[in-house]
Amino acid sequence: MSVLVLGGAGYIGSHAVYQLIDQSEDVIVVDNLETGHKEAVHPKAIFYEGDIRHIEFLRTVFKKESIDAVLHFAANSLVGESVEKPLKYFENNVYGTQILLQVLTEFKVKNMIFSSTAATYGEPVSVPIKETMPTNPTSPYGETKRMMEKIMKWTEQAHGIQYVSLRYFNVAGARESAEIGEDHRPETHLVPILLQTALGRRPHIIMFGEDYDTPDGTCIRDYIHVEDLIDAHLLALKYLREGGKSTILNLGSNRGFSVKEMIEAARRITGREIPVKNGPRRAGDPSILIASSEKARHVLGWNPTRTSVSKMIQDAWNWHSTHPKGYEKDV
Ligand code: UFG
Repeated sequence: MSVLVLGGAGYIGSHAVYQLIDQSEDVIVVDNLETGHKEAVHPKAIFYEGDIRHIEFLRTVFKKESIDAVLHFAANSLVGESVEKPLKYFENNVYGTQILLQVLTEFKVKNMIFSSTAATYGEPVSVPIKETMPTNPTSPYGETKRMMEKIMKWTEQAHGIQYVSLRYFNVAGARESAEIGEDHRPETHLVPILLQTALGRRPHIIMFGEDYDTPDGTCIRDYIHVEDLIDAHLLALKYLREGGKSTILNLGSNRGFSVKEMIEAARRITGREIPVKNGPRRAGDPSILIASSEKARHVLGWNPTRTSVSKMIQDAWNWHSTHPKGYEKDV
């Protein structure tokens, strides 16, 4: 049986594909290449270029392949863009997932691992954030992911599709070998922006707000290494295949780092200056997000080992410094 990875040409999806193939799984990748990169698809994966909203396309993939589980990374994921274009997010993320669930039902595929986000919580009532805390998303992006979780809950009850929804905190780093890495266009995430600045691709980084109610005034986030994150997906797959029940799990490192601390860490690791300019707060940024990932450790036996931000930035730097233009071929 094969594992279908939707969005397997994206940053996180491509890391999942590499680890699945390391574990001798047969992998099918579907990606519409809107934000993914063909070069990021593992050469041993079977690749279908197409969009999950096209039901006939998706049916063709399920007809041709024998699939027992799906890892669903295929979504738009920019908080800021979602505020400006909410309908794009509801259409791609929510409608796309509805079509996927429809096809899973038709083909009796019962196991689904779903990429969710800390953005489902909105401004947390307290930290560390537990899965039982209220979800009040402050962006259409977070709202779509929460809606998708709810759709999965009702679909499970009616059709028995079991799911593990993984709520990611701030994903960073890259595969140690630097074969694949993070290349978003446009790039909005802190770590790649710091490293692009270190490479001279940007003149400076703008620090969004210095007046938050935190020790150094900048936002605090819980960074998780992409390889630790994918370890949790593989354990979730094993869990579902062994009959585990649907559940929602936070994935973070349980520690917070401020933007200033991340800038200092990036300077230390790259040995580059990284000029910084102060800017206003970015709309929708909560001041502190730190996960409690105790449930994931308990339910999956997950034990993240790359929890130092130095390791995350070092591995991201290995990718950025060897691929200064990302996946562009003319590097
Ligand atoms: N930041 C800057 N300057 C930049 C970019 C980011 O100061 O140029 C700051 C942000 O204000 C924030 C921190 O760096 O305080 C981290 O920002 P990112 O954009 O890297 O990550 P976010 O915390 O905004 O977003 C992440 C995921 C989203 C998810 C969200 C949950 O990327 O997908 O966490 O809140 F929705």
